[in-house]
Amino acid sequence: MGQVVQSVKGWVDDAVGATYSGLSAARDGFAERRRRRGESAAFEAAFARASFISGWLNRKEAELLFELASTVPPGQDIVEVGSYLGRSTAFLAQGASAAGVTVHAVDPFDGGQLQLVSREENFDTSKQFWRNMREIGVAERVEAHVTTSTSAAASYVGRPVGLLFVDGNHSEKAVYADGSGWAPHLAPRCLLAFDDIGWQGVTRGLHRLCADGVLPPIAGRVDKIGLCGPADLWPERVRTLARAGDPAATSPGPLKAFFRKRVLPGAASGPSPHPAADRDPG
Ligand SMILES: C[S@@+](CC[C@H](N)C(=O)[O-])C[C@H]1O[C@@H](n2cnc3c(N)ncnc32)[C@H](O)[C@@H]1O
Repeated sequence: MGQVVQSVKGWVDDAVGATYSGLSAARDGFAERRRRRGESAAFEAAFARASFISGWLNRKEAELLFELASTVPPGQDIVEVGSYLGRSTAFLAQGASAAGVTVHAVDPFDGGQLQLVSREENFDTSKQFWRNMREIGVAERVEAHVTTSTSAAASYVGRPVGLLFVDGNHSEKAVYADGSGWAPHLAPRCLLAFDDIGWQGVTRGLHRLCADGVLPPIAGRVDKIGLCGPADLWPERVRTLARAGDPAATSPGPLKAFFRKRVLPGAASGPSPHPAADRDPG
């Protein structure tokens, strides 16, 4: 009887050991595949540090911002419209640290986006924002502008903007105001990134900005982020990530459009990171 118990215990130990080594091997294989897919060690470390920050940016988009930020030369700065708890700010600031530029984080920080942290009104998101910035060690690279995009642009006295990332109010009017408000501050060959390019307001606002010659044409897209500006400045990695000149950058495509309209008629008004509480562009 004792021998049987010993054997069963042995099998169980073997099975647990095999499962554990299988899982470890799978984890190592996954990490190795990711490396082979081309992420830099610097970005992997940045993601490991900052991925705990709540937000909507996925890994590929985080990598895009990190890589774009790394191209901004000394003497220019980065402006981010819509920082929330600092998820995107974290990747801009970590990418930028090599170039020694400042990230201007523009947001009223008054709880426009409550879903992830609290149901209270007038929640001050700046406290959590700064905790997050300090936690990942980039606080000194970031300057917060606690106001709307249009008022920050009107009073901006910083260095020319080498990278503008827009993820604020997604109405057409607000997106147009973001682009035209910041346009006078952009460096001649500024890179521009607009989040949620599939949103009607963003698509329309951006189209109008490009059509009116306020901003250069859309040059590509990485997941939800549309890119304008000189694609020849994109680092090699961004070329790999981006679907350059993809016409689908500004439209959902026939299948998606059909699905949205017919199958999920209420989808566009479901829970979203951009509730009506978004600040009016003024
Ligand atoms: C989707 S969240 C930004 C998420 C953030 N970029 C991230 O990746 O975690 C949108 C933010 O835009 C801010 N916002 C809304 N209207 C704005 C405006 N007119 N100017 C600046 N920020 C605005 C909101 O307060 C909110 O924090």
